[in-house]
Parts: sequence; C-alpha cells; structure tokens
Amino acid sequence: MFAREPEALLQVWDTIDSTNKHALQLAKDNAAQGTCIMSREQTAGRGRLGRSWVSPPDSGIYMSIILRPTLAMEDMPLITLATGVACAKAIESVCGLAIGLKWVNDLILDRKKLGGILVEMQRPAVVVGIGINVQHDEASVPEELKEKMTWLRRGTDTKFSTNALAAAILFQLEKYYEMLLAGQKSQVLNDWRSLSVNIGKDVSCQSGNQLLEGRVTGINEQGALLLQTASGEQVIYAGEVSIRNLDGSYT
Ligand code: BTN
Repeated sequence: MFAREPEALLQVWDTIDSTNKHALQLAKDNAAQGTCIMSREQTAGRGRLGRSWVSPPDSGIYMSIILRPTLAMEDMPLITLATGVACAKAIESVCGLAIGLKWVNDLILDRKKLGGILVEMQRPAVVVGIGINVQHDEASVPEELKEKMTWLRRGTDTKFSTNALAAAILFQLEKYYEMLLAGQKSQVLNDWRSLSVNIGKDVSCQSGNQLLEGRVTGINEQGALLLQTASGEQVIYAGEVSIRNLDGSYT
C-alpha cells in the first residue's frame, strides 16, 4: 500500500483510545504519508460533530491513514468523498454488498448507517478515519438504533475476511486519492454521484444553525451539496442531511 512511501508504517493495536487521535499525533511527529493505524477496539472513538463512535472489540474496522495531500484548499473536502467511494468499492468487491453514500461521510447499507468517515487536519497532513460496522449482537443493540444502524454480517451468511476488507479499502483509497492528486476529480465526483443515496431525494439539512428543506440536485466540483429549496438553490459546504420518508418523517 502507498508503495512509493517506504517510510509508511502499519500499526495494529488490540486497543487504543482513538486511531484518529493517535494518527494526528504521529502526523505531528512527521510520520510518512500512507502510515496506517488500525485497532481491534477503540475506547474513545470519535465521530463527526463531536459525537463518539462506539467501537467494541472485534466488531468493526477502525482505521486511520495519514495523507499529505498536495491539493488546493478548496479541494480538500473531496478527500472525504473519495474515501467514501473507496470504501464502497472495497466492500462490494470483498463482501458482494451494494453500498450507498450519504453526503457527506456516511456509508449506507439497506437504508441504514454501516459506517462513517472522519477527516481531521494536522496541517499540512490530513488524517482519514474510517469506521465500518462488521459484527454486532442484535440483542445487545439498543432498540432505538436497530432501525438506524447496521453491520456487514447482519442477517447474511456473507463469508469474508475482515483483514482482506481492510486491505481492499487501503488499495481503493490509494487509487482514488491518486486520482485526486492527478487532477482527475471529475471521475471521483462521478463515481460518488453514481453511489449517492441523496441525489433526487427530498431532504432536510442542518447546516450550522440553519435547517433547510428541499430536493438534492447534485454535488458541485468542490463536493458541496446542491439543494433546491422553495427560495432557490442553496450550496451547502457542511451539514447533516436527513432523507424524507414516504410518511413525511426524516431518517
Ligand atoms: C462519523 O461520525 O460517521 C464518522 C465516524 C468515524 C469513526 C472512525 S473509527 C476509526 C477512526 N478513529 C476515530 O476515533 N474515528 C474514526
């Protein structure tokens, strides 16, 4: 992986507070691009918007990769989208499951959240954190989460190796990251669009302290969400999207 970076390390932990936190520290200490931290468990896994990411032992893939992108600042958000596409392609190839992408960082399976991506900066480095639910005991999942989250081995006898999936994610991530660096962002954006579960859907979007409602018409060249609202098109650079269900509720 990241074959042209001979200094890149692969660290695998049994338990750690957060692979992202550790990777940010390594990035500060000049760790090479492609350095990857994985753990079988996280005790303080971090999610977006200050949330925590529940990371019980051997229940998911928890990994963080250090990148040192030579991209224009306005293209940095594309790293999150490229990582989403890479994860979807890897899961499809190893597990044979069709994954959707929900703007901006969610991996979706059967309309439920399967995983998420958390990109954090340690300038000039970037840490790409990936969390994917692999195995949970249905009985121990809180009732209110059963309809919202899912995991790769839920209700299927899909046989795959978690290690093979982690390797496939790194392989695909390298490929999509290199496309970005090579200026092929249209291909990354088009692949993201074709996996999107948002485009064409009615949604509500919490962006800062604004709650917007409208129909998603696409994403622009910077990966921002295009939302057609009653008062015109809004371009949303950061926010959280909920999709409107047939009964008018939002998921
Ligand atoms: C989200 O909120 O959807 C993003 C979740 C990202 C979780 C991953 S697990 C590996 C890495 N380390 C962390 O502490 N968080 C990310």
